[in-house]
Amino acid sequence: MCGIVGYVGYRDCTEVLVDALSKLEYRGYDSAGIAVFENEEIKVAKSKGRLADLTAKMEKEGMLHGTSGIGHTRWATHGEPSDRNSHPHGGERVTIVHNGIIENYKSIKDFLLGVGRGFKSDTDTEVIAQLLDYYYDGDPVHTISKVIREIEGSYALGIVFEDFPDTVFAIRRESPLIVGIGENESFIASDVPAILKYTKNYYLLEHDEIAVLSKYSTKIYDLHYKQITKELKTADWDMDAAEKCGFEHFMLKEIFEQPTSIKTTITPRIVDGLPNLEECGITPDILNSFNNIHVVACGTAMHAGVVGKYVIEKLARVPVNVDIASEFRYRAPLVTDKDLVIIISQSGETADSLAAMRLAKKLGAKTLAIVNAKGSSIAREADMLIYTHAGPEIAVASTKAYMVQIAVMYLFAFEIALAKGMIDENECRRLTSLLQKTPEMIENILESKSETQHIASSLIASDSLLYIGRGLDYALSMEGSLKLKEISYIHSESYAAGELKHGTISLISDGTPVIAVATQSELFDKTISNIKEVKARGAKVIIVCRENYEPDSDVADFKFGLPDFDDLLMPMLAVVPLQLIAYYTSVLKGNDVDKPRNLAKSVTVE
Ligand code: G6P
Repeated sequence: MCGIVGYVGYRDCTEVLVDALSKLEYRGYDSAGIAVFENEEIKVAKSKGRLADLTAKMEKEGMLHGTSGIGHTRWATHGEPSDRNSHPHGGERVTIVHNGIIENYKSIKDFLLGVGRGFKSDTDTEVIAQLLDYYYDGDPVHTISKVIREIEGSYALGIVFEDFPDTVFAIRRESPLIVGIGENESFIASDVPAILKYTKNYYLLEHDEIAVLSKYSTKIYDLHYKQITKELKTADWDMDAAEKCGFEHFMLKEIFEQPTSIKTTITPRIVDGLPNLEECGITPDILNSFNNIHVVACGTAMHAGVVGKYVIEKLARVPVNVDIASEFRYRAPLVTDKDLVIIISQSGETADSLAAMRLAKKLGAKTLAIVNAKGSSIAREADMLIYTHAGPEIAVASTKAYMVQIAVMYLFAFEIALAKGMIDENECRRLTSLLQKTPEMIENILESKSETQHIASSLIASDSLLYIGRGLDYALSMEGSLKLKEISYIHSESYAAGELKHGTISLISDGTPVIAVATQSELFDKTISNIKEVKARGAKVIIVCRENYEPDSDVADFKFGLPDFDDLLMPMLAVVPLQLIAYYTSVLKGNDVDKPRNLAKSVTVE
């Protein structure tokens, strides 16, 4: 939900800001803008649309030249995407960029209108700029602290004051913000990939810490103007992590990175052939102490939780309830101090997931976060933490993050099943070694990507389709369906194959595509019967199943064959063709694969 950047140093600021924003466009791309100190004056350029529209505009109307400034890429919340609502906002003395939402903006706006101030946009952000200007007393840190005490909501702000050329001020609450430290230059950014090209060293700004960036020094203060010393962190990603490296899209690159992501995530958590999550604060005793598990998350991360539910319940016999975070938090959930609440999140900043976690803690439950973004809010506030090591995921549609989330759910399920005595050590070892084989098997599946291109070409003219499966195949088809609709804009639903006949089968008519996932041996015959039911009603069926099954013409029109493997781990293989089918359908439709319409990767509003 919006990305902000800032730079102070010796390089061409416009170039740095545009480059850094290009790494944050996944956070929103309704408009982009920058403010640069040019001859000690703040100059602004902004445009509705993508970053490319902003650069095209500047090429036509004149580039901004300077060595310090701030920038923004927007996912609209207050006010339509337009030039006037694009950030930066402000007046002659103060200009700001903002990621977040100001909840009490209406009362502040009324106050400012009452004292004769005018507004140039419909945004909540402009009230902060105006309030900063109204209270400005010649001391930026003092002014910022005063304003911050009056605003409610979430924010990461980059601020420049006309009186303080070549200085960038920043503050955050809830919305993420880091301060990058280079040699004779400093940066602010909503996320680490934005600055990796220039430096790997950064500070994680805590709530209501004010950063003051100048060329030769960066200082951080609390709201009482007391200087704070912070630990300098070093990113363990290299620049390639934020580049396409020859792939046409980030999504395809990230699908291909999955084998490596799995290895990096599970290897440190396997000791002597058994899962070991001790470094994450999880011991057999702790695992034994829970009566119930709740998995709470949003979107793809929630789907990873559904796979986790099937696996944990089957192996460990512990009840697992999977909840959508935005429902959980307002449903008076039945959570006690005997329960474990697992929050899964790629970004670690999703507003609903964060609020759900805070509620779970309030109810006395222990919380375990499974998070990809280091130092994110969910990671910092959870009682126990398992980082997934997928590296930065740039494409809005999540692929490798999902893969490592389910890999962690498997490890967790094996460990809790062993701790509860539901499987013995030999079985735990067998399952763990199977999990370790998945990267190699996925590499082989990726070699068959052209088959998924062919399947995608048969889908592009469709208005709607269904994904069906039973058991773990159903859990997986939820993610397949979401992936396809996110980036191809084709309506799609996932359905439990056995439930179809209770209503949804009426949607099937001649040529309706149905993607059937059939990898679960025990349920295979039943799934095939359900597939025949839709085929008999005219459906065009694409079956994802084991290679050695040859479907008759009354079952399927296309087959994607998977290598033979243990049923339990089949989702880790079967998700790959589903991701590729979604990817190629989007490509063939000419859509913007990495930045699908209306979406953003990090959803920091509820
Ligand atoms: C957004 C993204 C999804 C993601 C969901 C949860 O909707 O577009 O890809 O699954 O948020 O995000 P999180 O960062 O919490 O995993």
